[in-house]
Order: sequence, then structure tokens, then C-alpha cells
Amino acid sequence: MDYGRFFITTPIYYANDKPHIGSAYTTIAADIISRYWQKRGSEVFFLTGLDEHGTKVAQAAQKQKQNPQAFVDEMVTSYKAAWSVLNIQYDNFVRTTDKYHVDFVQKFIQKLYDNGEIYKDKYSGLYCIGCEEYKLPEELGRGLICPLHKTKCQMVEEDIYFFRLSKYQKQLIEIMQSKKMIIEPESRWNEVFRFLSKEPLKDLAITRSKVEWGIPVPWDKEQTIYVWVDALLNYITGSRGLWPPTLQLMAKDIFRFHAIIWPAMLLATGYELPEKIFIHGFMTVNGQKMSKSLGNVIDPIEISKVYGVDALRYFLFREVPFGQDGDFSIDRFERRYRSDLANDLGNLLQRIMTMREKYQIDWEYRVSKKIFHEINKAMENLEFSNALNMIWAIITEANQRIDMERPWDLTKSNPQKLKTLISGLLEALSEIANLIEPFMPDTARKMIGQLKTDKIEPLFPRKK
Ligand code: MSP
Repeated sequence: MDYGRFFITTPIYYANDKPHIGSAYTTIAADIISRYWQKRGSEVFFLTGLDEHGTKVAQAAQKQKQNPQAFVDEMVTSYKAAWSVLNIQYDNFVRTTDKYHVDFVQKFIQKLYDNGEIYKDKYSGLYCIGCEEYKLPEELGRGLICPLHKTKCQMVEEDIYFFRLSKYQKQLIEIMQSKKMIIEPESRWNEVFRFLSKEPLKDLAITRSKVEWGIPVPWDKEQTIYVWVDALLNYITGSRGLWPPTLQLMAKDIFRFHAIIWPAMLLATGYELPEKIFIHGFMTVNGQKMSKSLGNVIDPIEISKVYGVDALRYFLFREVPFGQDGDFSIDRFERRYRSDLANDLGNLLQRIMTMREKYQIDWEYRVSKKIFHEINKAMENLEFSNALNMIWAIITEANQRIDMERPWDLTKSNPQKLKTLISGLLEALSEIANLIEPFMPDTARKMIGQLKTDKIEPLFPRKK
């Protein structure tokens, strides 16, 4: 598999709060994929950003007694700072309040309107501000509570504009069957396909009459554009002419927007479809959904301060297969830190470096093709935990070789064997550094640095 160019996106996160471990999860994944394809020689373009309009953001600003623009400006600073700490190298950061974005969204919706894809009608329904979405009563729990946000939905009645989403049902089914837009993992493809085959699609309310903090509808300035339509279009406005994306990442909470509404919007305006959307799982904390009210929101910056950024980047993608739900607990994090990082990897480096110094052995860099092939296959399929397992198997094997061959006994008995052994181990170390680089760029750099000099420093200092 090879890509000349690789254009990857994350969702644009709501600017109602600072980043947490969930938004960091998707963004670090995109960074790993970007770094990986860059190493393989692709021209990578990595797009992320913030979703700054809508009721949810406006309410958050109001709570802080700030005007929404000043509030989202601060959020942008906080997101950019976090992504920088987490060593995330994006190429473009879209803000939906930027003028070029606003202009494009208005032109886009005007085009839909001119093409007869939009009509006006009455709407009354239950709205969840957390999801920024109208819900059907059957989707809600008792007392009209949103199962995701545990908050009561509001009855809203308004005269608004609708996009003829229902018209695209057949075409969407065809796209799915022909895999013109790939949806992975397969279980998600099945879910969308089943839904599209059974449920008649309803037209989509794409404007709001009572939400001021949004982009005005060009032909009816009393209304604003539905925040999801505004947000989805960031993928085009941020693309710097590189449309369509190779891969769009998101979690399961918002995949229907991306698998149904998004391609329909593109079909209606003649844009190409993304090549692939990949839906990963949801991270809980000690088995519970992360939420402010539970006070269990994990701040990735705090974790990084204590354990280092790379330990976090490693843990998130080793512990849980990408695509499945996973849980974050400090206990498990510390266990992995001690055993996989400080013991397996950190020790290996230290042992080999000490031996090299003691026995004065030079090393030569060679690449083993077979292992690269297997690991590349896992990386191409976004099987990060598999790739890391295979890399850690090399680490374990190298540690075992040292234990078995007992180099300290070989100095006198078989100096030639000792020499071969250590140069093999050094070769393994540089391979390991190269392989972990997309996941742990700082660690890889430190390892290579130590291979080139005589400096020996622990990679993962022991805690407590
Ligand atoms: N603003 C919309 C997205 C618009 S994209 C055109 C939105 N924002 S969000 O802030 O709620 O971000 C949702 C996304 O953040 C998820 O799809 C996922 O990528 C990431 N995650 C947020 N919490 C997460 C977890 N607890 N676990 C894993 N990913 C999580 O929806």
C-alpha cells in the first residue's frame, strides 16, 4: 500500500471546554498515522480544529460571563497549547468563526438552496443541546433524558429550512455497497447499512431560528445555519485544495453524521466523497463515562507532566485495540509504565548501552525486512495495539537474549560471540527506535541520540 498524498482529519471539537483525554485520543491517533505515512514518504496533510458555533458553546461562554467570540478565542489558545505539549503536528487548524470558513459555508448552503435541495417548513421536536441534535422520543429515556448527556431535551418549535436528505437514501446505499466511501470497522459499516436499508431517512433541519451564535442563512438573516452543517464543512474549508480526504477519524458518538448526512451533503453539491472514515471506540475512566459532574475528566496535560507525553501516547494505543471501547485507569497506566516502558524498553537500552561501553563494541545499522512488513501491515490497517505488540516482542526477545547468553561470561571465553551478540542488540535497538517513532517521537529521538554518543540516561525514570 502506498499513498502519494495522505490527507487525514479529526473531528473539530466543541469549543465549550478545554481538551480532555477523549479529544486527545483521536488527535494523537491522527498524529501517529501522519508521522507514520510521512516516514513512508507520503505527502501528509493533517487537519484538525474547533467547532465554535451553536447553543452549547454560547451557553458555556455565558456561564463565564464572556462574549462567545472572546470565549472561543481563549479555547483555541488552550487547544493549541495542549496539542503542542502532546507533540501533535497538525498542518491546519480550522476555526469555524474564521471568515473564509463562514463565507464558504454561506456559499455552500446558498448553492443547495438554488439547486432546490432546501425547503421551508414547521418543525417541532426535542432538542439535545449536548448532542446539538434533534432527537426522536424513542431515542430518549424516561423524562425525555438524552442517554448520552443525561440531560433533559427541550421541546423546540420553529419555522425552519430543511435539506432533502431523504432523496439520497438510495444513493447512500449504493455508495455503501460499492465501497465508494469505505466505512471501518466492518461492524460500523453493517450498522449504517442496516439503518439505511430499514429506516426511511427524514429530511434534515439545517437552520435554526432561535440560535444567534451561528452563521447567518444568506437568504434569511433571521436564521442561522445548523451547527453540524457548519462544522462538517470545515473538512473542505480547511483542506487547502487537497479535497478529498484519505481518512477521516472520529468516535462512534458522531459517526452517523459522517456516514449519512456528510456524504449526502457532498453528493448534493457534486463534491467527491472521502476515501475512508474510521470509527474508533470510546474511552471511559475507571469504567465510567467521563463527565464534569462526575469529576472524573482526565486532563492529558496533567498526565504528561508526571509521566511524560510518550508514556501517554503509548498507553492509549497499546492498551486497547483501535476501534474498540477502552478504559483509562491510573493503575493500569502505571503498570504499563513500569513494566513495558521502564522495565522492558528502558532497561534494554540501558543494558545494551552499558555493555557497549564496557566491551567497546561498534555497531552497524541493518534492517530486518520481515518484521517491518508485518508491522507495516498492522499500521496500514490502523491496528496500533498489534503493531506495538510486535514491537514489544522484539524488545522482550532482546532482553531474553541478554539473560540467556550472559555476555558478562563471554568476555574471556568467546570474545567473537560477544561482539556479534552486542552488535545484533544494537541493531535491534535502532530498529526499535525507528518503529516506535510515530507513537513516541521524543523517546525515539533520545534513543537514537544515545546510540550516537556515550551518554546514558534513563528513558522512563521510575516513579516513587
Ligand atoms: N463538534 C462535534 C464534531 C464536529 S466534526 C465535523 C463534536 N465535538 S466533540 O468535542 O464532542 O468531539 C467528539 C469527538 O471527540 C469524538 O467523536 C471523538 O473523536 C473524540 N472524543 C471525545 N470524547 C471521547 C472519548 N471519551 N473517547 C474517545 N473519543 C472521544 O462532536
